[in-house]
Amino acid sequence: MKKIISVVGARPNFMKVAPLHKAFALYNSSNGNSIQHLICHTGQHYDEKMSKVFFDDLELPKPDFYLGIGSGSHAEQTARVMIEFEKILLSEKPDLIIVVGDVNSTIACSLTAVKLGIKVAHVEAGLRSGDRAMPEEINRILTDSISDLLFVTEISGMQNLTNEGVPEQKIHFVGNCMIDSLIHYLPKIELSSIGEELGLEGSDYVVATFHRPSNVDNADQLLAMTALLNETAENLKIVFPVHPRTIKNLEINGLLNGLSKNIILTDPIGYLDFIKLVKDAKFVLTDSGGIQEESTYLKVPCITIRTTTERPSTVEIGNNYLIGDRFEDAKPVIEIIMKGENKKGKIPELWDGSSASRIIQIIATTFNIR
Ligand code: UD1
Repeated sequence: MKKIISVVGARPNFMKVAPLHKAFALYNSSNGNSIQHLICHTGQHYDEKMSKVFFDDLELPKPDFYLGIGSGSHAEQTARVMIEFEKILLSEKPDLIIVVGDVNSTIACSLTAVKLGIKVAHVEAGLRSGDRAMPEEINRILTDSISDLLFVTEISGMQNLTNEGVPEQKIHFVGNCMIDSLIHYLPKIELSSIGEELGLEGSDYVVATFHRPSNVDNADQLLAMTALLNETAENLKIVFPVHPRTIKNLEINGLLNGLSKNIILTDPIGYLDFIKLVKDAKFVLTDSGGIQEESTYLKVPCITIRTTTERPSTVEIGNNYLIGDRFEDAKPVIEIIMKGENKKGKIPELWDGSSASRIIQIIATTFNIR
C-alpha cells in the first residue's frame, strides 16, 4: 500500500483537497484499498470561520495531523511549518506528498519533503502573475521547480512551465480541482438561505472581498477601496465578508464607521453560503485568486482590482475584468455590467468536475499502483 499525505494550510486550500480525498476513496473502493490518503493541516489558518467551517461544508475528515502553526511573519510561519512537518514525514515515511495552491504552507511542505527524498505533487501548478512582489508568486515558482508531478489547471500554466524548462513528462493538464468542489456541491449550495438571512432577496447586490496585502496593508488603497464601495452602495447593496487582515486594517485606519449602511459587513463566510452569494450576485469586486475562477465558472461578472492575474483564462475566456490597482477604474466596468453589456464568458477547458480523478489516475500510473 502506498501512503500519500495531502497538505492544507489556508482557506483556499480546503476546496482543492476535498475532491482529491473523495477521489482517493473512490479509487480505493475499486482497487483494493491500495492507497492510504492522509491529510495534514498546518494550521496557517486556524479561526473557526477561516478553517473548521470549510472542513464541515466540504465533508473533509478531521485532519490526521494538525501542526498548529498559526500566524507570524513569512519566515516564522514557513520555518515553523517546516520544523513540524519534517517530524511527520520522518515518522510516517509517505511515498508522496500533495501540496495545493500557493500559500506559505505549500512551499514549506514541498521543500521539507524534497530534502528528505520524498516525492511531491503540486496541484494548481504553473500559474504565474509575473509579479514577484506577491508572496504567492515566489511560492508558486519555488514549489513548481522542486515538484515531481505538476498538475495544471489552465493552458497558460502549461506554457509557463514549458518556458521555464520543466520536463514535459512532469506536466499534466488536468483542469481545476476547486471547480470539482463547486460542481459537486452545487445542489447543496442551492439550498443555502444566506440571501434571505442577509435580507437580499429580490434585489440586485454585489459581493466584495479584499485581503491582498497590496490593497489592504496600504492606507491609500484602503481609502480608495472604501470610496468605491460607498459609491457603489448608493445603488446596490454590497455584501462584504471581511478577512481578518482587512478588518484589522480598516479598524487601524478608522475607516469602519464611514461605510455606507448599504454595505453588509460580515465575518468570513463558509464555503456553501459564500458560493451561493456569488452565484446570485450581480457582480463581484475582489482581489482574490480563487474567486476569479469561481465567478468565471458561475458566469457572474467579476472585477479584479489587481495589476496582474496568474489566472489569465478567467479574463481571456471567462467573465473576469482585470482593471489594475486603481479602485476608481472599476466604475466604467460597473456601468457596463449594469447596462447588461458585459462580456459573456465561457468555462475554460477541463473545468468539468473530474480533475481530481484525473490526478489520482496519473498518480496511480506513475507509482504503478493497482
Ligand atoms: C493567506 C495566503 C494567501 C491567501 C489567503 C486566503 C500566504 C502567503 N498567503 O493570506 O495566498 O489568498 O491566505 O485567505 O500564504 N488571521 C486570523 N485568523 C486566521 C488566519 C489569519 O486572524 O485563521 C489573521 C492573522 O492576524 C494573520 C493575518 O490574518 O496575521 C493574515 O494571515 P496569513 O495566513 O498570514 O495570510 P493571509 O493574508 O490570510
